[in-house]
Amino acid sequence: MFQRTAEIVEQVPMAERTFRIRLACPDIAAAIRPGQFVMLRLPGRTDPLLARPFAFYDTTEDCTAFDVVYLVVGKMTGLLAEERTGNKIEVWGPLGQPFLDIGEPERATCVAGGIGQTPFLAYAKELLGTRGYGGLPARKRVGSVALYYGVRSSSLAAGLEDFLNAGVEVHLASDDGSIGAKGYVTQVLERDGPTSPLIGCGPEPMLHALMNLAAKWDVPCQVSLETPMACGIGACFSCVTKVATADGGWDYKRVCVDGPAFDSKLLLGAFE
Ligand SMILES: Cc1cc2nc3c(=O)[nH]c(=O)nc-3n(C[C@H](O)[C@H](O)[C@H](O)COP(=O)(O)OP(=O)(O)OC[C@H]3O[C@@H](n4cnc5c(N)ncnc54)[C@H](O)[C@@H]3O)c2cc1C
Ligand code: FES
Repeated sequence: MFQRTAEIVEQVPMAERTFRIRLACPDIAAAIRPGQFVMLRLPGRTDPLLARPFAFYDTTEDCTAFDVVYLVVGKMTGLLAEERTGNKIEVWGPLGQPFLDIGEPERATCVAGGIGQTPFLAYAKELLGTRGYGGLPARKRVGSVALYYGVRSSSLAAGLEDFLNAGVEVHLASDDGSIGAKGYVTQVLERDGPTSPLIGCGPEPMLHALMNLAAKWDVPCQVSLETPMACGIGACFSCVTKVATADGGWDYKRVCVDGPAFDSKLLLGAFE
């Protein structure tokens, strides 16, 4: 893990209250893998004191910088949106585990809700073999990648061109019908019929629906959790989630070090 003070080299709007920030940080950019995350903290401030976790979106081709895409929801993300190119941000990472190994299936289906699309761009490129990350060579692992992406409204859909340019087949849903099919993204997925494997990221109700669908279809599914975190490095236990154990009981796992992605079979019941 590297802890660095990184310069902002780009900060661009992508959608309503949604920005892509590019941080010059060759160490993290060269090491990070899809599914992992970084902690970002505004330097020289005590409020907010704690760093916040953000999924790794992508790196530049030369691996000198990496991108995070964030939605403004509160204090830290609000202040982050006011930062300008040339300013510095404290960052540590790579944190957590890469996505779980899915083998080499014909098709991989990523399912995102809200700002949950962010871990899937680099992942799609890695699976399709157009990019290698973390020092690994590019290698094609799947025939195709689909992204089912649900938002409240079209104004919040962020990064569609990035996914389309990466060769991802994009299926959209929105609560108000302003983009894609009207309804929940899991309903659109269910309508299209069973597919395997599933990889989800988004709000808990969406993940719960996805996990139930995976159980109904009996297909492998992993979900990446966006549990609030205080330290990001396993020290504070603020991020624990319930997981099933082999003896039929429950245990707790720290999302920051054991996740953020977990096999959905282990998490069934965790959101109830
Ligand atoms: C592994 C991981 C990856 C993430 N990746 C991204 C990403 O790529 N882009 C992105 O925009 N966000 C991401 N998040 C969520 C992000 O960390 C929070 O949005 C951020 O911490 C909010 O900070 P804030 O100070 O702006 O909001 P706060 O002032 O802390 O909170 C504002 C409001 O949002 C709620 N809130 C805060 N965090 C969460 C959360 N995790 N889930 C649900 N509600 C929450 C609070 O309860 C409060 O109501 C990720 C979280 C995790 C754990
Ligand atoms: S955030 Fe501190 S242990 Fe996970």
